[in-house]
Amino acid sequence: MPRWRPTWMIVVALFAVMMTVALVRGAQARADGALMRADPERILNMPALARSALAQGHDGFVQHCASCHGAGGPNQARGVPDLTDGDFLYGTGQVAEIEQIVLHGIRSGDPRGWQLAAMPAYAHAKPYGAEPIPPMTPAQIGDMIQFLRAKHGVATDQAAAARGGKVYAGSGGCYDCHGNDAAGNEAIGAPNLLDDVWLYGGSAATLDRTFREGRAGVSPAYARVLTPVEARAIAVYVAHLARHDRQPAP
Ligand code: HEC
Ligand code: HEC
Repeated sequence: MPRWRPTWMIVVALFAVMMTVALVRGAQARADGALMRADPERILNMPALARSALAQGHDGFVQHCASCHGAGGPNQARGVPDLTDGDFLYGTGQVAEIEQIVLHGIRSGDPRGWQLAAMPAYAHAKPYGAEPIPPMTPAQIGDMIQFLRAKHGVATDQAAAARGGKVYAGSGGCYDCHGNDAAGNEAIGAPNLLDDVWLYGGSAATLDRTFREGRAGVSPAYARVLTPVEARAIAVYVAHLARHDRQPAP
């Protein structure tokens, strides 16, 4: 047996392995490039790109988001919104809007994240740092609970609800953030108070806690943790969750 043969076979085998690695890397780089170049709102309509983005996004979601967002559903005890219901605190569920939240977060400390408003703590002498909003008395808080419960047809004291309505539109300043109609404001993340989608909950006890102590939920910023490709893939996956109401990703 000639001695050179095994050596050459090793060289050829190594070459084949290197070529394969290069081809796979090249294909991955092309897919990554396509994901970043595409119009984010059209990715879910582009089957091949959507498939790879959803697979990568699902893995990223499990690794980075599921500790709080679980399978995407709500967790009112922790103020974690339902990402599968198509009802968004911020924006309308566009991929670009979700990507902005993934990268820069909500009240995350990242100056590019959402931090335009928070729920004031009305039992405190100075309820809100950013604006001079007066505190509410315990009686006013009781009235406010009745006012909101009346919006859901479950008030027990209509006179109190009427008094609460005056505070809502007056000294409480609620209208300023949640709107005159209480339907919320997705430009500052103020929730709709009329629908049955609760961030923290609509029981009298939970509302009492919300009014007394305020609320300021945090979604962390991942700009330093994820690559732009990973962040976009996760945003595509979350947009898909919202559009396909509780259906698992392919
Ligand atoms: C530490 C817990 C935590 C982690 C981890 C987390 N989030 Fe959040 N997320 C929250 C909370 C709490 C809110 C609600 C913030 C608020 O009250 O405004 C939120 C809000 C959001 C929203 C806005 C929903 C809406 O209705 O507008 C999106 C989108 C979101 N998170 C996506 C993600 C993604 C994607 C990840 C992973 C990359 C992630 N979050 C990681 C806790 C978390
Ligand atoms: C400065 C803006 C601002 C004002 C004023 C304000 N809110 Fe809020 N409110 C918010 C924001 C922002 C949130 C969401 C907090 C979060 O995401 O953690 C919120 C949350 C809430 C919630 C929790 C809803 C849920 O789904 O669990 C209720 C209830 C509420 N506000 C009612 C009121 C009422 C009633 C008033 C007046 C007494 C009021 N808010 C005044 C900004 C405001």
